[in-house]
Amino acid sequence: MAAELTITRPDDWHVHFRDGAMMQSVLPDTAAHFGRALVMPNLVPPVVTKSDAESYLERIKLCIPEGAGFTPLLTLYLTEATDPDDVASAHAAGLITAVKLYPAGATTNSDSGVREVKKVAPVLERMAEIGLPLCVHGEVTDPEVDIFDREAVFIEKVLDPLRQRTPGLRVIMEHVTTEDGVQYVQSHQRDLAATITTHHLMINRNHIFQGGIRPHYYCLPIAKREKHRLALRQAAVSGDKRFFLGTDSAPHVDGAKESACGCAGVYNAPNTLACVAHVFEEENALDKLEAFVSLNGAAFYGIPANGGTVTLKKQVEPVAAMDKLRTADGEVTVFDPLCDVHWYVESITQE
Ligand code: NCD
Ligand code: ZN
Repeated sequence: MAAELTITRPDDWHVHFRDGAMMQSVLPDTAAHFGRALVMPNLVPPVVTKSDAESYLERIKLCIPEGAGFTPLLTLYLTEATDPDDVASAHAAGLITAVKLYPAGATTNSDSGVREVKKVAPVLERMAEIGLPLCVHGEVTDPEVDIFDREAVFIEKVLDPLRQRTPGLRVIMEHVTTEDGVQYVQSHQRDLAATITTHHLMINRNHIFQGGIRPHYYCLPIAKREKHRLALRQAAVSGDKRFFLGTDSAPHVDGAKESACGCAGVYNAPNTLACVAHVFEEENALDKLEAFVSLNGAAFYGIPANGGTVTLKKQVEPVAAMDKLRTADGEVTVFDPLCDVHWYVESITQE
């Protein structure tokens, strides 16, 4: 049964482009489908200052294929030494769209992140004043806290106190992975939203260990129990404006994933739209797909939706599994949704 769906061109509200040869290889996959993407700043060294963002933007622009009609949106990496004036100046120049808070040690390249939130209070206050949103990696780093509980504990111990201390600060819980996170967002009417990744809609923690250890399903925050995946799906398909797509497409070469101490991250840029359409169809909610991938995020960030469109088609035969992406640094495995997907991106239009 063939089907076709044309929606406003989507945005990816959380992506890792990396730098150098890796960025050259991965960026076109995002630019092929998405009109804009919020680019995470966790490079080595991270994108901390306005001047770092200026030079990263120049490097990003060199990798955008001609005619792609793609706009990168930058973030700054919050450190305990971040200068509120520098952040405000980057925002005033239209250079950045958000600031990202990584608890130090929470995930890939987060060593320069925040250890004590009170040290960044002046930056957060200034952001609230100027209306610059804070993207949060919501996991505590205390090794005593079980890895599957780190998001729930973060909400209670860090996020809620931070929001109470900084009224008016607009916060996005990045890649929310639990029912607790979904409920926390649902229980607040203002200044709070969440991104949901492609893979967290499709896998639960069992998939990481199905028949053996599967490093390509290891990401942070780690996939949780099935009931949490179901809560994420319900939030995504609900049409609730506070939830939108952030793929967290996070490429690592296979050698770094298939290792005794493998990196966290799933590369899903090439097949995200197909996978998300599959999920929404399973939930009988294809009419809500556009809100989740194209409208809600732009509305929360206070920018117009993209002018162009993307047309998704469904074919009778399953779409062939994606090849590995070859980069100058090595091969990158594309997210395998572990089920037949019949959707594919047929075409895009620009404004
Ligand atoms: C991301 C990465 O590789 O940069 N990894 C991941 O598992 N999601 C970092 C992040 O977003 O946590
Ligand atoms: Zn990420």
